[in-house]
Amino acid sequence: MCNNPLKPEPYKITNIIRDTEFEWTFAIDFSGEIKAGQFFQVSLPRVGEMPISVSNMRGGLEMTIRKTGKVSGYVFDLEAGDNIFLRGPYGTSFPIDDYKGKHLVIMAGGSGSAPVRPIIEHFYYNSDEITSMDIILGFRIPDLILFKDDIKKWSKKFNTVLTVDNPDDSWTGKVGLGTKYVGDIDFSDAENMAVVIVGPPVMIGFCVREFTSRNVKNEQITVSMERRMACGIGKCGRCKINDKYICQDGPIFRYDEAVNLID
Ligand SMILES: Cc1cc2nc3c(=O)[nH]c(=O)nc-3n(C[C@H](O)[C@H](O)[C@H](O)COP(=O)(O)OP(=O)(O)OC[C@H]3O[C@@H](n4cnc5c(N)ncnc54)[C@H](O)[C@@H]3O)c2cc1C
Ligand code: FES
Repeated sequence: MCNNPLKPEPYKITNIIRDTEFEWTFAIDFSGEIKAGQFFQVSLPRVGEMPISVSNMRGGLEMTIRKTGKVSGYVFDLEAGDNIFLRGPYGTSFPIDDYKGKHLVIMAGGSGSAPVRPIIEHFYYNSDEITSMDIILGFRIPDLILFKDDIKKWSKKFNTVLTVDNPDDSWTGKVGLGTKYVGDIDFSDAENMAVVIVGPPVMIGFCVREFTSRNVKNEQITVSMERRMACGIGKCGRCKINDKYICQDGPIFRYDEAVNLID
């Protein structure tokens, strides 16, 4: 029998949460082992494939998909009860064990809040494993805010900053880029800090500087890298930068390893 590692398998969509107009969270009946930060190759027959991060693992797999093009467009036509095709999970994961005993800071922009959600959820339910956690989440406009109910829940336990770049008349919360709020964090124990930054490459660079200028070292920072992918398993070279395959050596990297990979 041919054991093809590229063959996707069908899984049932159990629920669809319409977070925003163009970003929906798909709950999928998948029961294998998954780690925070990993991704699946999500596909539909005769349409195509796309890499999508895991946005929740508690009580089942969830993935939050932005409608940007061909495959995601077709996925938005699916309904609960329909099948979606998956390969994975693939790639490296956030080093949750290394964060234990530390002051954890999570910083994410836009859809970058999807891959960090499983880390936050883990420590929400296991808060004795860390000394404290600061969460900074930035979105372009209020209508693009993801995981509103979770953010309310997290803010009851952790210092949680939710900020938008461009507020509308109804917005009464914080305004400006997430970097504006890094200075409000307590850096007195900077050497015991672990920082997670997920967002567009330009955001990562600016955020890293906010931390390194306050005595946090590159090796204390974890980032997630996005690249166009095809096979997802280190065979085709589509995602290769220098000697690294982002699909296999990443997408989660320590910043001292990622610094030469970011454009
Ligand atoms: C490891 C990884 C994790 C990802 N996680 C998520 C996620 O959780 N949710 C989500 O919505 N998207 C995620 N993406 C991005 C997602 O894979 C692309 O948006 C997707 O391929 C679009 O497929 P499509 O056929 O709908 O769009 P296409 O028709 O292929 O493309 C639409 C537009 O998106 C651009 N694009 C496609 N892929 C990428 C990419 N990797 N980086 C930047 N621009 C891209 C194209 O250039 C084009 O402009 C992730 C990508 C990677 C590599
Ligand atoms: S996507 Fe094929 S090698 Fe990474």
